Amino acid sequence: MTIGSDITGNQQTRRNGQGPATVHTIGDVVGKAIQRLGAAGVEQPRMDAWLLLAHLRSVDRATLLAHARDPFDENERLSFQALVDRRAAREPLAHIIGRREFWSLDLQITADVLCPRPDSECLVDAALHEIRQSTKGHQREWNGHILDLGVGSGCLLLALLSELPAAWGVGVDISQQALSVARSNGEMLGLGKQVSWLCCDWGSSLEGRFDLIVSNPPYITDREASDLAPEIRNFEPATALFAGEDGLDAYRALRSDLDRLLASRGRICLEIGHGQAAAVEALFFQAGFRSIRRQQDLAGVDRCLVLTRD
Ligand SMILES: C[S@@+](CC[C@H](N)C(=O)[O-])C[C@H]1O[C@@H](n2cnc3c(N)ncnc32)[C@H](O)[C@@H]1O
Repeated sequence: MTIGSDITGNQQTRRNGQGPATVHTIGDVVGKAIQRLGAAGVEQPRMDAWLLLAHLRSVDRATLLAHARDPFDENERLSFQALVDRRAAREPLAHIIGRREFWSLDLQITADVLCPRPDSECLVDAALHEIRQSTKGHQREWNGHILDLGVGSGCLLLALLSELPAAWGVGVDISQQALSVARSNGEMLGLGKQVSWLCCDWGSSLEGRFDLIVSNPPYITDREASDLAPEIRNFEPATALFAGEDGLDAYRALRSDLDRLLASRGRICLEIGHGQAAAVEALFFQAGFRSIRRQQDLAGVDRCLVLTRD
């Protein structure tokens, strides 16, 4: 008699209560989850299925893979199924497991913040390149002030501070919930003393000058919303994504604050959307900035503008 079958592949077979239940290995169960996630359109079903089980067991994926032939612990079946169900409904993996790696930092992630994207690491690269140049390679002694406008999870600012122990930073966001995630990431990484957090509309409540300003503002056009993957469209905060009809509203809003807050010889590293480089450069030329260079992301797309006023 077959008494049940579910996404975990847990087909329990007993013959009139006499035979033992079929034993499934971890590999079998994860294999079924991979099929389920693949059918739901998840981009990396294999990776995600293993990571979900690794999360449930609080072990790393490599440890789990080494035990793929071990029997699956039946007590975990419902919990694993619940996680796979959420991912099959296209909830982002980072929301489910509550973590995401960025610049080798382990960050806490909730639905209140944008999941940090690997492509955004090119902003950190670009900023560190500028600092290396100005310090002739002694970046760890650089004691400049950094501002991150639209700090979200804190990924950019915390990555920079982790490389620049003598620097000090301010992280700004309009979302109080995002700021509490960023603050808790700062504490968790032991960087809390190097940073202040402020809830305001871009730089409107700030005074003073910053040597480095980084920002990854929203830049998706309203009409692109329907083309976004469900993970983004249905789960990530709209305030982190959309910027009007042409996707440039946030850059327009930021311009005057950047002008007021940038120190002389300061640098701005601005993330841009695909194909936006020329339009964003033009906006900043009009305001008296010049573009030093464009930095490409992992796919070779212009993803970051390095701007200055000097
Ligand atoms: C694209 S997300 C970037 C988050 C993070 N810096 C990253 O790279 O993952 C943009 C962030 O800007 C914030 N934001 C949107 N409008 C804002 C405003 N008017 N003032 C301050 N922050 C704003 C959003 O809440 C969101 O956290």
